[in-house]
Amino acid sequence: MGMLTEIIRAEITARGVIPFAEFMELALYCPEYGYYEKKSGTVGRGGDFYTSVSVGPLFGTLLAWQFARWLERLPGGPVYLVEAGAHDGKLAGDILDWLAAQRPELLAHLRFVIVEPSSARRNWQMASLRRHGDRLAWVADLSELPADGAGVIFSNELLDAFPVRRIGWCKPTQQWFEWGVVWEAGAFRWAKLSGTPELPEWFQVPPALQMVLPANYTVELNGAAELWWSRAARSLRRGWLLTIDYGLDEEDFWSPHRPQGTLRAYQGHREHAEVLSHPGEQDLTAHVNFSCLQRAGVAAGLRTEFYGFQEQFLLNILRESAGGRFPASGWDARQKREWQTLIHPEHLGRRFRVLLQSRGMTGAEVEGRHLSK
Ligand SMILES: C[S@@+](CC[C@H](N)C(=O)[O-])C[C@H]1O[C@@H](n2cnc3c(N)ncnc32)[C@H](O)[C@@H]1O
Repeated sequence: MGMLTEIIRAEITARGVIPFAEFMELALYCPEYGYYEKKSGTVGRGGDFYTSVSVGPLFGTLLAWQFARWLERLPGGPVYLVEAGAHDGKLAGDILDWLAAQRPELLAHLRFVIVEPSSARRNWQMASLRRHGDRLAWVADLSELPADGAGVIFSNELLDAFPVRRIGWCKPTQQWFEWGVVWEAGAFRWAKLSGTPELPEWFQVPPALQMVLPANYTVELNGAAELWWSRAARSLRRGWLLTIDYGLDEEDFWSPHRPQGTLRAYQGHREHAEVLSHPGEQDLTAHVNFSCLQRAGVAAGLRTEFYGFQEQFLLNILRESAGGRFPASGWDARQKREWQTLIHPEHLGRRFRVLLQSRGMTGAEVEGRHLSK
């Protein structure tokens, strides 16, 4: 039995049952043994899943072009690019490489800050980003960001990696319950937690649907993502807050096509539902509720500039950059392949959604775009 299985089993033995969110927290982030703590090569061809970053440098190049365009419109003084969920530092490296080559004058007054709570991951990032050392700084938490922060706070596939609660429907009692995890017959198994779970206001199943919900119909709650977004929004004095991730609108969480929710595991590029097996050996992820994020940002005083698929977001960048200095024409075969993968609806183009909100920017300073499905 692996060390992490031992650790989780001991926790369950002490308490009888633990909420699934605690299982997921330990499986992904237990110091030393958690999936995201013990090795950096989990993303990309040799790992368990692809991200837009692991497709190649083009994704970072496109973002760098857009960031430069935004940052150049901010008045003088230091400007910040803040990344959370930087993992092995690849996206940060792609962005900084492009800025160093194409916008050295901007880079001279830019600080790239990585929000990284884990010292293991911070070490991977420091090693892979040594070439940009003088432009980089690390903080462990959003609360440590500079108070005069004007710039962009961004993340790619951060919030879908936050531990989620799983809420199930008890058909006989017509009540919601929360899923927990027990250890039984040599394996982790699902068990219902006793008591009534605390639920957020948005968690209102449409009445017509409630009549037909199957037993154990399950929905995830990612309160940690909403809280993170709200804190990120409040720490942004002026500029943009951007995230790209797997996700849904609120009403989509009530789809009869998803009776077991969106939680899934990835191992060796295989997606499966055995989320309780092999903790620490496989990625666990659940879709982000973008309606909750939007509301949290607006409540913190932000304005929504864009919400839609990655396909549209990147196409907008390409369109705008064509008249600028971006080398859209003259791409080599590798870049063209990367572009296809990033925007094709059957590849990553519609798998990922983008939410962009801003504070303190007038309409003239940001190209307002709206939900495009
Ligand atoms: C799915 S990976 C995404 C990696 C990378 N952004 C990419 O697109 O290839 C999610 C990353 O977010 C990190 N993470 C989780 N919670 C975090 C937090 N609160 N702050 C910063 N990073 C976090 C995880 O450790 C992991 O490295």
